[in-house]
Amino acid sequence: MTVCRLSGDAQPRLQGRETMIELRKVSKSFETRGRSVKALDTINLSVREHEFVALVGPSGCGKSTVLNMLAGLMDPSAGEVTYRGERVSGANRRVGYMTQKDTLLPWRTVEDNIRIALELRCRSSEAGERGARLREIIDLVGLNGFEKHYPSEISGGMRKRAALARMLIYEPETLLLDEPFGALDAQLKIIMQRELLRITRVRNMTVVFVTHDLAEAVTLADRVCVFSGRPGRIRAEREVLAAEPRDVVGMRFTPEFGALAEDLWNELKDDVGKELTT
Ligand SMILES: Nc1ncnc2c1ncn2[C@@H]1O[C@H](COP(=O)(O)OP(=O)(O)OP(=O)(O)O)[C@@H](O)[C@H]1O
Ligand SMILES: [Mg+2]
Repeated sequence: MTVCRLSGDAQPRLQGRETMIELRKVSKSFETRGRSVKALDTINLSVREHEFVALVGPSGCGKSTVLNMLAGLMDPSAGEVTYRGERVSGANRRVGYMTQKDTLLPWRTVEDNIRIALELRCRSSEAGERGARLREIIDLVGLNGFEKHYPSEISGGMRKRAALARMLIYEPETLLLDEPFGALDAQLKIIMQRELLRITRVRNMTVVFVTHDLAEAVTLADRVCVFSGRPGRIRAEREVLAAEPRDVVGMRFTPEFGALAEDLWNELKDDVGKELTT
């Protein structure tokens, strides 16, 4: 695989790490309205412990479908999906999943939206312990002072932070994030990217991150996988080596960053827009 070094002092971060997630020859078709749609065609993908992998590709190429299978919400039509060497079947409790349409419950405060995840996942934990976890997580995502606000009373970025907190509170070892910052403005996006990197590094998390934004993929990921148009296949992969901690703003202004983003665009461009005409 092509390795792209974004700065001279960048060191490999994942040497010796075990495989966490594996898709082996995975295909997925859907039957709807008497028609069969092949969403994914013979995908091979493996993700190591603590790795941050970004999936990019045109609309409809099966990115969300990959996350749904990793979360155990749907089975592949062919091939195998494994997590820590075991076949995924039924809900995968080790992952936190922020779906593309993730929403907070509008009638609950920020605090209660986060608490509900803890109550659903960890029935056994004591009320006192839950309270401590809640405060810790609110602190981690920087929502102090907004605990009692309703979703309609906070900004888009804060809502994303609350959704992130709701997922982080039960301490999943792996995060599946489907375009989590897609609707945010450019500045807020940068703040959220910085926060996400900080939190996932502190907690040694493994991340599979879907985005349409190539710059975002290069900024965050150890590896970027480019999907072809439907049926989705992985048509290119690039490993990204960058100095740690990543400077999510500064790294964009280097020639290496621009060259990699352009290289990814060249892999992607022929398939973009095709879904509108087929
Ligand atoms: N539950 C489902 N039932 C029927 N078809 C589905 C289902 N989920 C996905 N599909 C189809 O599979 C294909 C891939 O969908 P998917 O949502 O994975 O794409 P995507 O890459 O996430 O697209 P986008 O970037 O627009 O979110 C699409 O043609 C979609 O219509
Ligand atoms: Mg999607």
